Amino acid sequence: MARIRLVVLISGNGSNLQAVIDAIESRQLDADIVSVISNRKSAYGLTRAENAKIQTTYVPLGPYRRHDCTRDAYDSDLADLVKSFDPDLVVLAGWMHILGPSFINRFTRKLINIHPALPGYFPGINSIERAWYESKINKLSKTGVMVHYVVDEIDAGEPIVTEEITIDPNETLEELKIKIHNVEHRLLVSAINKIINEELT
Ligand code: GRF
Repeated sequence: MARIRLVVLISGNGSNLQAVIDAIESRQLDADIVSVISNRKSAYGLTRAENAKIQTTYVPLGPYRRHDCTRDAYDSDLADLVKSFDPDLVVLAGWMHILGPSFINRFTRKLINIHPALPGYFPGINSIERAWYESKINKLSKTGVMVHYVVDEIDAGEPIVTEEITIDPNETLEELKIKIHNVEHRLLVSAINKIINEELT
């Protein structure tokens, strides 16, 4: 079978994108990233992609807002763009724009997201901060990471892989962030491998 084609959507630093690039280069992942798309021009992940000679596109929401277009129009055009790369799997790796049905329904079981918390916990932004805060005020002792299929509900959908992470009582927020990001990088690669092995080949 031809190599699996990935399209990765990012908004920021792109450390998860980098983990996928590295896994492909070190042959832990038998796939190609055919395109990286960002909704933020300054996203460092775009530089990471360019360094790896991957095609990139910047797709801002601003012009749609200025012309009174709906988010649906943005989502639908974005879906057309992603489809044009003929991906086997679309990976949301720190993509900070909520996608609606006009996008999601075009990629049934081909769209995955990484969430830095366990299923059902801390959906939306600042998940790590909120878990850390809960550990301080309510003695929450664990959080985690999940990679899941995307449905029309934020950070929900069938989990593909999950991993629990202990929050040490004296841990700083920065220490917890580093711990979680390290798990994310490993888990995202595992999730893609799992889908390749169980669903795509
Ligand atoms: C990650 O923590 C991801 O789970 C969250 O946003 C962050 C993106 O990090 N949705 P990066 O851009 O991959 O470094």
